[in-house]
Amino acid sequence: MKRYAIEILEIEHANILRMTQVMRRMALRMMEEKTLFVDDIRLVIDWIRGYADKHHHGKEEVILFDEMVKELGDVGERLIRGAMYIEHDAGRYHVSQMEEAVNHFEEGNEEVFLDGITHVLGYAELLKRHALKENEVIYPFGLRSLDEKILDSVDERTKKFEEDFSADEYLEQLEQLEEKYQR
Ligand SMILES: [Fe+2]
Ligand SMILES: [Fe+2]
Repeated sequence: MKRYAIEILEIEHANILRMTQVMRRMALRMMEEKTLFVDDIRLVIDWIRGYADKHHHGKEEVILFDEMVKELGDVGERLIRGAMYIEHDAGRYHVSQMEEAVNHFEEGNEEVFLDGITHVLGYAELLKRHALKENEVIYPFGLRSLDEKILDSVDERTKKFEEDFSADEYLEQLEQLEEKYQR
């Protein structure tokens, strides 16, 4: 039986993957027009920071993955701290580099066009692989290995986390960007 917490995390992955599609199309159009869409990249950066990182990765790190690190010994340590957390950090790096690129581009440095494209595509690629790995390997491993009692508490804490956060605004922004960057 699938757990509430995992269902929520997988729904969030689906939304994050929709954003990575938007980012790829945006990159393609920026290549065609040989410019950086500064305002839209800033929208994407805010979306990633608020939804993908603070809300989604935040929830993983504070609730489910925290239990896996505490309960599953070396394997938990290796899979979570040694892999998932490193990928979360790599995502943050791409986002900070996207921001630097748009800042410098606005100051007239056109060469950072390349860095902008690189980090938009880099983030999209990284997150696709990361989300897939979690859906197919990490979450099922957590479900198989953690005690029922801990999984109950993961569900409860996830519910609370969700009550304090509204995703509506983020989902609306996602739809608007999808509309703008249709194929
Ligand atoms: Fe993650
Ligand atoms: Fe995730």
